[in-house]
Amino acid sequence: MSRTDGRLRPLSRRALCAAAALALLGGQTLLGGQALAQGPIVLKFSHVTAPDTPKGRGADKFKELAEKYTGGKVKVEVYPNSQLFKDKEEVEALQLGAVQMLAPSLAKFGPLGAKEFEVFDLPYILPDKAALRRVTEGPLGRRLFEKLETKGITGLAYWDNGFKIMSANKPLRLPADFRGLKMRIQSSKVLEAQFRALGAIPQVMAFSEVYQGMQTGVVDGSENTPSNMYTQKHHEVQKYATLSDHGYIGYAVITNKKFWDGLPPEVRGQLEKAMAEATAYANEVAGRDNADALEEMRKSGKITFLTLTDEEKAAWRKALEPVTAEMTKRVGKDVIEEFQREARTQ
Ligand code: LMR
Repeated sequence: MSRTDGRLRPLSRRALCAAAALALLGGQTLLGGQALAQGPIVLKFSHVTAPDTPKGRGADKFKELAEKYTGGKVKVEVYPNSQLFKDKEEVEALQLGAVQMLAPSLAKFGPLGAKEFEVFDLPYILPDKAALRRVTEGPLGRRLFEKLETKGITGLAYWDNGFKIMSANKPLRLPADFRGLKMRIQSSKVLEAQFRALGAIPQVMAFSEVYQGMQTGVVDGSENTPSNMYTQKHHEVQKYATLSDHGYIGYAVITNKKFWDGLPPEVRGQLEKAMAEATAYANEVAGRDNADALEEMRKSGKITFLTLTDEEKAAWRKALEPVTAEMTKRVGKDVIEEFQREARTQ
């Protein structure tokens, strides 16, 4: 079953067939085991962004290092740009064992039943990247990964993207400018509450469909990082973007637990080393990728960027302030408090 917009619907035939075919092609059982594997262990890493993004670069770096450190015992196949699966389908494909690794945005774990991950979506919860690192590398980061184990998923690392900007076909300077706008969101209830607080109409949409949604007017705007906007060409179908830094996009790199636990211990150790180094690399390139993307979009002349005055910033914060209280029951009071404590600890 697949869940979008909080509703359950069957996994599309296309996705199911692709998942089953891939599982067989890999010489692996649908349970993700390697018992039938001949030759190198094939690890399929599926993701939704372009190769020249922080996540795309991290995945390619992991491939390079994993193949090197295992001496070719593991072959990593990276499938970018939703080539194999869209947002929700890819998590199901991972659970089925059709792919072995993903890095979904932290805003996409709610439909899986791990709603605590939506803490990362709370407006203004992260003052900066240093605070982020303290959380993802601290006890809460580990605790969130533990939540995934019962879903047949093992969390391996947190990868960075960056702070979000808000785009639309009209200038968004004050909360009142959002009134009535259809804004695309990832499948997070916190993001839904965020846009409702601004008077907009949130609409869950797969990442791969956003460009067309903007072009055809199905949605009026969205929020994303500069790197994601630029590589998906959103700046060609949006006239304005506000450098609001109101929230954050990052990833959890996850694997099929049965696959991971079934690996020869020596190989698993080599893959862990590859993952640790790919993580450092992905986190290092994220800042530069976003700065470059912003610059390229500016140079294109197709989109106008807006910065907010102190008064405007204060108005955004005031409008978004109730979201945390509203979402406390869903995300968990203890999770929010632990997040805030760890983010603050120097
Ligand atoms: C989105 O769906 O907007 C992004 O989170 C996609 C991604 O993986 O960066």
